Amino acid sequence: MTSDVIAIDGPAASGKSTVARNLSEALGIPYINTGSLYRAVAWKLRKNALDPDTVSPEEVDRILADTRISYEKPAPDAPPDIRIDGVFPGQELRSADIASGASKVATMPNVRAWLLDLQRGMAKLGRIVMEGRDIGTAVFPDARFKFFLTASPMVRARRRLAQSGETVDGATLESVARDIAARDEQDSRRAVAPLKRAEDAVLVDNSEWESHQTLQFMLDKIKEKETMEKETVLNYRVPYADTDQMGVVYYANYLKYFEMFRSEMLIDAGLSYLQMEKEGIALPVIEAVCRYKSSAHFEDRLTITGRVAEAKGVRVKIECEVRCGVRLLADGYTVHACMDMKNNRPTRVPPALLKLLK
Ligand code: DC
Repeated sequence: MTSDVIAIDGPAASGKSTVARNLSEALGIPYINTGSLYRAVAWKLRKNALDPDTVSPEEVDRILADTRISYEKPAPDAPPDIRIDGVFPGQELRSADIASGASKVATMPNVRAWLLDLQRGMAKLGRIVMEGRDIGTAVFPDARFKFFLTASPMVRARRRLAQSGETVDGATLESVARDIAARDEQDSRRAVAPLKRAEDAVLVDNSEWESHQTLQFMLDKIKEKETMEKETVLNYRVPYADTDQMGVVYYANYLKYFEMFRSEMLIDAGLSYLQMEKEGIALPVIEAVCRYKSSAHFEDRLTITGRVAEAKGVRVKIECEVRCGVRLLADGYTVHACMDMKNNRPTRVPPALLKLLK
């Protein structure tokens, strides 16, 4: 199963919050900054005069059992913000002191386990953007979209220094760079859910980019994945003309159904076959296999599905299945040679077609 989550992980000040907010606006979906949840726990310890360096795990458990965290709108027209035990701490969560406490509580297994449930619960309402350090690795390893955002240490220090209220008074570029490096170290080395890139996350190094470029890059990646995942399903009502003297669909029609499916799949991918031919590329069939499992009758409603199964050199293999409800009627494949129509010679499979490869 996949969770409909856009997971964004990355080190401190890599631009996660900005791009997560921009993505949430562009897509019209909620955005959760999970760093604020760790900050909220640090804030609660501070309110109880507890030091994250010395507090015992039992004491932390006692505090968590008595803590309520939610995302709510502080005012009717304001964006949702974090609420702890009925209070909106707002900017208090952004102080350098709370940031350092958050990095410490983030190493505590009981805090992480407690927040894991809270974070997973937030994805139940539909697609969300969630940013943090372990979203794609621990919170939602099955997230549909994963990004790992990063930028060079100096760029990140410059950005953090420009965020008012996030650094201590008198901070310099060097001192901020040192603080960020210390937090990265703490976040990456902890035993539970350390900061690391999920193997299937798209790496986004935005050192040289403005925020709108980062946003566009990520929107393009999301669109690309959605297009590739969208399975073409062709629905077809069997006409009288397709049946034979036995009253069932004549066997040769299944190859026609395979062909109808191929056209539809290419159109869905924004690649019509007609257009490909106009551009001088043809895909003649060089092999066809159809295995017949069950028969179909006049007015049966067929569903035809399939995929590009192989694309190597000049050959493309497209698999297909024809069903009536859950009953499999036939499955098989066609192999196509990719031809350059100008000189009637085989040519490499076009990149647009390669993208459909599952
Ligand atoms: O992103 P931030 O600076 O607000 O995060 C505060 C701290 O919380 C940071 O040190 C890393 C930690 N954190 C985490 O361990 N896992 C998350 N999913 C989010 C934040």
